[in-house]
Amino acid sequence: MNTDDVLLLDEDLSAPNLRRVWGSFATGVAVVTALDDGEPIGFTCQSLVSVSLDPPLLSFCPARTSTSWPRLRTVGALCVNILAHDQHDLCRAFARTGTDKFLDVEWAPTGNGSPAVRGAMAHIDATVVGEYDAGDHTIALARVTGVTSDEDQPPLLFFRGTFGGFSGR
Ligand SMILES: Cc1cc2nc3c(=O)[nH]c(=O)nc-3n(C[C@H](O)[C@H](O)[C@H](O)COP(=O)(O)O)c2cc1C
Repeated sequence: MNTDDVLLLDEDLSAPNLRRVWGSFATGVAVVTALDDGEPIGFTCQSLVSVSLDPPLLSFCPARTSTSWPRLRTVGALCVNILAHDQHDLCRAFARTGTDKFLDVEWAPTGNGSPAVRGAMAHIDATVVGEYDAGDHTIALARVTGVTSDEDQPPLLFFRGTFGGFSGR
């Protein structure tokens, strides 16, 4: 190996620098919802991943500061609403803590009673089966119990702090 080829990595692992680097990883965006004692709750989430198909498991990572996660975990039944290209306002609204996020939001209950946000490109019902401490976040694991999707919708994408769309090749 030619040592001249070694890539020198930035050793600045501060939160702003890590956030900047991770901004290169474009993701879709979801709103995770539940019905807590008749009150619809939820938060915007990009740390979503399909973990297993058999059994069907998904995961996402709520921050320790999340006020919705302790309630979602207690309810146990939730819905992952995968947002469509035109839902950036909704995405921003659900990223604000302590507000009435469902004001002016049209939704209907899914099979497990969670709010399915109208216009989302997919809805995934799931039941929380585990949670694991992970630094300033929690890794939440949930078993999928029902799915629906609108295949004609383009997705909402998040990249370097801004929203955009997808153009396939
Ligand atoms: C595009 C986008 C993605 C986000 N992804 C996450 C995430 O994966 N986990 C998380 O805890 N917060 C995430 N957030 C931030 C939360 O939505 C935000 O902190 C929200 O206020 C939490 O609301 P809550 O206090 O009701 O839980 C994201 C925000 C945006 C705009």
